[in-house]
Amino acid sequence: MADSAAVLIAGCGDLGQRVGRLLVASGRRVIGLRRRAGGLPIGIEPLSVDLAAAAPSVPAVDQVVFCAAPDAGDAAAYRRVYETGWGNLLSALATAREPPRRVLLVTSTRPYAQRDGQWVDEDSPVTPHDAQSEALLQAETRLRDSGLPGLVLRPAGLYGAGEGPLLRSLREGRATIPPGPSRWSNRMHRDDAARAIVHLLALAEPAPLYLGVDGEPTDHAALLRELAQWIGAPAPVSTGAPAAGANRRCSNARLLASGFRFLYPTWREGYRAVLG
Ligand SMILES: NC(=O)c1ccc[n+]([C@@H]2O[C@H](COP(=O)([O-])OP(=O)(O)OC[C@H]3O[C@@H](n4cnc5c(N)ncnc54)[C@H](OP(=O)(O)O)[C@@H]3O)[C@@H](O)[C@H]2O)c1
Repeated sequence: MADSAAVLIAGCGDLGQRVGRLLVASGRRVIGLRRRAGGLPIGIEPLSVDLAAAAPSVPAVDQVVFCAAPDAGDAAAYRRVYETGWGNLLSALATAREPPRRVLLVTSTRPYAQRDGQWVDEDSPVTPHDAQSEALLQAETRLRDSGLPGLVLRPAGLYGAGEGPLLRSLREGRATIPPGPSRWSNRMHRDDAARAIVHLLALAEPAPLYLGVDGEPTDHAALLRELAQWIGAPAPVSTGAPAAGANRRCSNARLLASGFRFLYPTWREGYRAVLG
C-alpha cells in the first residue's frame, strides 16, 4: 500500500536534495533515487538505481519528483536521461498497483527559442530546435500521454550552489561579453526552485506547466559588470563572436499567481546570499 506521505525524488542530486530536506523537515517520508545513493542527507532514504538501465522496481509512493540531470550537455546524454531514464520510470509508475497521486517532472526553459528579447510564458510556443530541446519536450509529452496526474516545472538557469561558474569566471578574469546587442538571461536561485517544487506538490489543483524563474530577467552584460564590481574583479571585456541563440525574457506570473513567494525575487538578493 502506498505510504500516504512518501515522496520519491528520482535523480536526487543538488536540487533533489534541497527538495528532500524541505520535505523531511515538514515530516514527509522521502526516498532519494540516483545511481549512487550513498551519502544522501540524513532523513532521505537512499535508493541506488540506474534509471537508464531498465524499468526500476519503485516503492509505492504518494508523489514523485523527477529531477535527474544529464551527465553532459550532448544529445546522447539528454536522451539517456529524458528518453530512456524518464521512459523507464514512467513505465514503472504507470503500471504500479497504486500509481502516485502526483508526478512532477523538471525540464528547462531551453525549448524557448525566441530571439527578439520578447516575454515568454507557459503559453508561448516552444520548438525542438536542437536534440536536447527535443528530448525535453518529448519527456513532457510522455507525461501528458501517460494518464498519470502530472505537472512540469521548467526552470531557467539555476544558481546558488556555492560560487558557481559565473562568479568563478569573473573572479578568475576569464569572463567575457560577446560584442553586439546585449541579451536577456533568466535565472532562479536553487533554494527557490526547491521551494517551488514543494509548493507545487502541495497545491490542490496545479496547472500542468510552470516556468521556474525569478522576477527579473537580466541584461547579461550588465549582470556580469555589476557582479564584477561587487566582488572587486576586473570588468569583463567585450570579445569573441556575437552571441547566437535564444534571447527572451521568461515570466514567473503563473508561479506567483499560484501563491508562490520568492526568497530571492531577483538575482540581487540571490547573489548577495551566495556571496554571504
Ligand atoms: N543547472 C541548471 O541551470 C538547470 C536549469 C534548468 C533546469 N535544470 C534541471 O534541474 C534538474 C536538477 O538539476 P541538478 O542541478 O540537481 O542536477 P545534479 O545535481 O547533477 O543532479 C542530478 C542527479 O541525477 C542523477 N542521475 C543522472 N542520471 C541518472 C540515472 N540514469 N539514474 C538515476 N539517477 C540519475 C545523478 O546522480 P547519480 O550520478 O548518482 O546517478 C544526479 O545526482 C535537472 O532536471 C536539470 O536538467 C537545471
